[in-house]
Amino acid sequence: MIAIGCDHGGIELKEQIIEHLKKRGIECSDVGCYSKESCDYPVYAHKVADLVLSGECELGILICGTGIGMSMAANKIKGIRAALCGDCFSAEKTREHNNANVLCLGARVIGPELAFRIADTFIDAKFSGDERHVRRIDMFE
Ligand code: RB5
Repeated sequence: MIAIGCDHGGIELKEQIIEHLKKRGIECSDVGCYSKESCDYPVYAHKVADLVLSGECELGILICGTGIGMSMAANKIKGIRAALCGDCFSAEKTREHNNANVLCLGARVIGPELAFRIADTFIDAKFSGDERHVRRIDMFE
């Protein structure tokens, strides 16, 4: 199960990603927002973080206009390692090296097809578990 949330800037891409992942047999827990009315992205960053930290969802996806506000908000939450990605290489490496547990996307920066590939890459990649990566993560956790 993937926790997914957005602000008003990311609502269309959120719906598209939910549909895309459903076709892959991956269910999403959608925490909102549900309308294009202006709203505050930290609210949704916290909702997704709660689902990831409780273990109800393995990973989270957060979408806002740039992905920047969501990543800033999410990374303030202890235990959340959020990565703003605009390419598949970063999405893969942030899972393998940083054990990222939340992917942030900028809906006004990238198109849906690239977003789908980035989300697929992030979900399919695994943390390497290498000692050096564990050590480095421990240094900032
Ligand atoms: C909303 O206009 C925009 O500020 C928000 O979606 C996000 O890009 C913030 O970082």
